[in-house]
Amino acid sequence: MERIDKLLASQGTQSRSDIKKLIKSGLVTVNGEKVRDFSLKINPEKDMICINGNPVHIQKYVYLMMNKPSGIVCATKDKKEKTVIDIIPDEFKRKDIFPVGRLDKDTEGLLLITNDGAFAHKITSPEKNIYKTYHAVIDSGINENDIAAFESGITFRDGTKCKKAFLRQLNDEINPLVEVKICEGMFHQVKKMLTVRGKNVLYLKRVAIGGLYLDSALTKNSVRTLNDLDILTIFVDELH
Ligand code: URA
Repeated sequence: MERIDKLLASQGTQSRSDIKKLIKSGLVTVNGEKVRDFSLKINPEKDMICINGNPVHIQKYVYLMMNKPSGIVCATKDKKEKTVIDIIPDEFKRKDIFPVGRLDKDTEGLLLITNDGAFAHKITSPEKNIYKTYHAVIDSGINENDIAAFESGITFRDGTKCKKAFLRQLNDEINPLVEVKICEGMFHQVKKMLTVRGKNVLYLKRVAIGGLYLDSALTKNSVRTLNDLDILTIFVDELH
């Protein structure tokens, strides 16, 4: 069950304050009854909601793109720290949403948030080969051996072997920027893979998931809904 004002606002067409205005004007009905209370709890699967007599098709699943800032933990709830779910603007908030995979507290960039478990699994499961692209600033340049080691699979100290990954240097600064592509989501994976090659990560940002890049118009902390093309783009990656 969800609050009607929140649920309607989560569909992304009207703000929560506009929804409240519509409710106040008596234009919103649930199963034919005028709604008087913004906090009325409804079942989006069963209840028939109309605005001005027109049925509202409530979307079961939501798909959001966030430009995650550093300093926020990637979890649904945390006793001490602010989470990525806490910073989602009200109009996008739903009870059942969660981040797709994890980014470290100090990692920035593209984070998907959804309430669709099957979608999340398709993206995070290493068997699905959806490559995630990261930009990392590291403390020294890479060479051909580092690139080859990533491609043949980095092995961590505990014996864990990573799947094929891609490494590329993007500039020649003293602390160069590199691009890393991995299809798994092990804890601190990019940092650990680079550490194995003797590199320290000074800054890390995820820039793409599959073929979908972080929207450059999305400022840090902000969120937008994914459209159908965005979702298709995730699964169309030039690598595979
Ligand atoms: N790899 C890391 O080391 N950190 C992240 O946040 C994501 C991938």
